[in-house]
Amino acid sequence: MKKTLAALTLAALFGAAGTTFAAEPVDPIEPVKIENPALVELGKMLYFEPRLSRSGFISCNSCHNLATGGVDNLKTSIGDRWAQGPINSPTVLNSYGQIAQFWDGRAKTLAEQAAGPIANPLEMASTHELAVEVIASIPGYAKHFEAAFGDDKVDIKRITDAIAEFERTLVTPNDRFDQWLKGNKDAITKFELEGYQLFKSSGCTICHNGAQLGGQSFQKMGVVRPYETTNTAEGVKTISGRDQDRMSFKVPVLRNVELTYPYFHDGEAATLEKAVEVMGDIQLGKRYTEEETAKIVAFLKTLTGEQPKIVYPILPPNGPKTPAFNPWAPAEAKK
Ligand code: HEC
Ligand code: HEC
Repeated sequence: MKKTLAALTLAALFGAAGTTFAAEPVDPIEPVKIENPALVELGKMLYFEPRLSRSGFISCNSCHNLATGGVDNLKTSIGDRWAQGPINSPTVLNSYGQIAQFWDGRAKTLAEQAAGPIANPLEMASTHELAVEVIASIPGYAKHFEAAFGDDKVDIKRITDAIAEFERTLVTPNDRFDQWLKGNKDAITKFELEGYQLFKSSGCTICHNGAQLGGQSFQKMGVVRPYETTNTAEGVKTISGRDQDRMSFKVPVLRNVELTYPYFHDGEAATLEKAVEVMGDIQLGKRYTEEETAKIVAFLKTLTGEQPKIVYPILPPNGPKTPAFNPWAPAEAKK
């Protein structure tokens, strides 16, 4: 009820200027309020902590590099012992608030998600037991666990909760499109606005909507025409077992999409132009002219927001009981 009233007031305020953000299928990204700074700080350390991996070398930031839009800019990721990952890494920026995590939605929350890569043999290739043993063996972590949780006990739930809390702060508010949504009509150019109008009128917003322009539903890749790929990922079918879910993927977040190339779960679209052409074609049955594509791409580039200001954490050194790392040991040897 409150929300409706606020929307009405805004509509009244901006109504005369034409489009109002209350009427738009996209909402602005809001900055986060940090409630437990000690938990966020611990989460940041663990996000950059390579010792959560078997090799002692791979951290979350290896594949979700916060210097490059929260991705690795590779078709598919590189994991333990240079393993070729099966799928493109989505950005961690603005990933909180999606209906689920992963392309097929197999994790409900960020904390549940974070438990995955630590033990994934193609990613960090550790085990939860080993990860806990390693972190607990590093004396300098004790005071950070105490500050975040009240005592220094280390377990996998605390590790993943802390990482998730840090990730929740990785939002990118105040991009030019949001400034426009909030009433600054000069924040985007006429060309970019035409791109947005085309994005809406073509039907892109049927799937790419909400604050993240994605992350709110699973949709078939290839609604009008099948998507051709050699990648073997089957999307939601892997989880549900149902044939009709084959090639259904979580609609990706389009905030900062300018930074998060290459595109699609298989990373096969190297440029935004290519991604827009493919989407128009196979999702909506539209063949855009070069100019139309350029307009939509120009609009998508207004979605690059203020990147989180990360002060690089200094990680505490190994203690006497910290297990040695051997990145070249065969897979079965966990240490
Ligand atoms: C070896 C590379 C690699 C590492 C290391 C890695 N990830 Fe990922 N991450 C990926 C890939 C690839 C996916 C997509 C996998 C899928 O959907 O099946 C992914 C998915 C995600 C997602 C889901 C985003 C979305 O929109 O669905 C989040 C969040 C995430 N990772 C966070 C983390 C965190 C936190 C860590 C550290 C604990 C981590 N990742 C370590 C490659 C990596
Ligand atoms: C029916 C739902 C639907 C519609 C309509 C749709 N998309 Fe998508 N979009 C998706 C899904 C699902 C994916 C992920 C597909 C995959 O990688 O397998 C995606 C991926 C993308 C990507 C790549 C993002 C990334 O990080 O990999 C871009 C860019 C994009 N869409 C833009 C558009 C544009 C522009 C339009 C309108 C021309 C559009 N989409 C219409 C569902 C849709």
